[in-house]
Amino acid sequence: MTQTNNIKVLVTGGLGYIGSHTVVELQNAGFNVVILDNLSNSTIDVLEGITKITGITPDFYSLDLRSKEDIKPFFKTHSDISGVVHFAASKAVGESVQKPLFYYQNNVTTLINVLQELKSIECQNFIFSSSCTVYGEADSLPITETSPIKPAVSPYGNTKQISEEILRDICVINRKFKTVALRYFNPIGAHSSGYIGELPLGVPQNLVPYITQTAIGVREQLPVFGDDYPTEDGTCIRDYIHVVDVAKAHVVALNRLLNSQQESNYEVFNIGTGNGSSVLQVIESFEEVTNQKLNYKIVDRRLGDVTSAYADTTKANTILGWKARFSLDDAMRDAWNWEKKIRTKK
Ligand code: NAD
Ligand code: WQD
Repeated sequence: MTQTNNIKVLVTGGLGYIGSHTVVELQNAGFNVVILDNLSNSTIDVLEGITKITGITPDFYSLDLRSKEDIKPFFKTHSDISGVVHFAASKAVGESVQKPLFYYQNNVTTLINVLQELKSIECQNFIFSSSCTVYGEADSLPITETSPIKPAVSPYGNTKQISEEILRDICVINRKFKTVALRYFNPIGAHSSGYIGELPLGVPQNLVPYITQTAIGVREQLPVFGDDYPTEDGTCIRDYIHVVDVAKAHVVALNRLLNSQQESNYEVFNIGTGNGSSVLQVIESFEEVTNQKLNYKIVDRRLGDVTSAYADTTKANTILGWKARFSLDDAMRDAWNWEKKIRTKK
């Protein structure tokens, strides 16, 4: 076991959806967490949520990773950072098509800026948020880490591929620098306390917040994008994973880095449940755990959607020693609990 008490970990984007849940798990595991976030897709209230759950307020710096000048003094002061979990990025696929330059700058330039600073403080343990989007429409299912990377269909997806390549190149030239890239499938749900969760700006692009917003009355009806896919019920299949399970994978990965347990200094793991669920199955789960009917309607397919994507998690289960514990029903219950909490707060 790692003695975590004095180990300082930087979490970029730590007030965001996955970042905040990871900060909770890192603090629960005894790490000393510092968050750097520019609040472009999160709010300062999240800090309070983390404090309520863990009893610890992490150090927080409101800084934009695009600005080299702004972040330099931060890394000078925190030259004792032992590891970095890098979440900060923009993630809206559709928006990335409209604003490619912004996405390359906010996702790729920021990564380079962080890596340059880490070089100067000799921090060599890095965890990167990658995505199942790198696999595109996979040739076979379930998707293993050796499945081919497909040409990206959006600038967002491309930023994940480029970022992985940058990290791989660095690991080749600097054998001491260690990276774990975690390819998340579809993170959903919220902390069971209801103190932190997903905060989508405007109309949600993702399925689960759209479901909960429809059920609470913020949206009139959920559009189900296509029921003519070659799947059992005609709707697309994804690997929906509870965000707390995703968060816990980071703690395990960080310990692996700190204990130098890696087989190679650049490793990639799928982070999913290994189970695929269709859109209609997700709706069914929501209806069952909340005991209510959801207003939904089948509409045309959405451009760019792949038919099926779910993970082979053997590598993460055996080598990383991590496994998803929560069910789809658990995640839907927690997502609904969170939706109700945020609406009653306003
Ligand atoms: P999020 O938007 O909730 O969190 C990202 C955080 O980074 C936000 O708090 C935002 O304010 C911050 N940020 C963005 N740009 C920044 C900058 N220039 N400087 C400092 N902070 C900045 O997103 P999330 O869902 O928590 O995703 C976290 C990471 O995981 C991202 O890299 C995302 O691409 C990746 N990912 C997410 C999903 C998903 O479905 N949520 C799936 C796969 C991969
Ligand atoms: C899931 C399913 C939709 C909304 C996205 C990103 C991907 C990764 C994970 C970051 C699909 C259907 C959705 C709605 C619907 N993120 N749907 N009605 O598309 O698998 O992946 O998040 O890396 O890069 O693209 O997730 O939640 O948008 O959609 O019918 O209103 O729900 O068609 O089948 P997706 P999603």
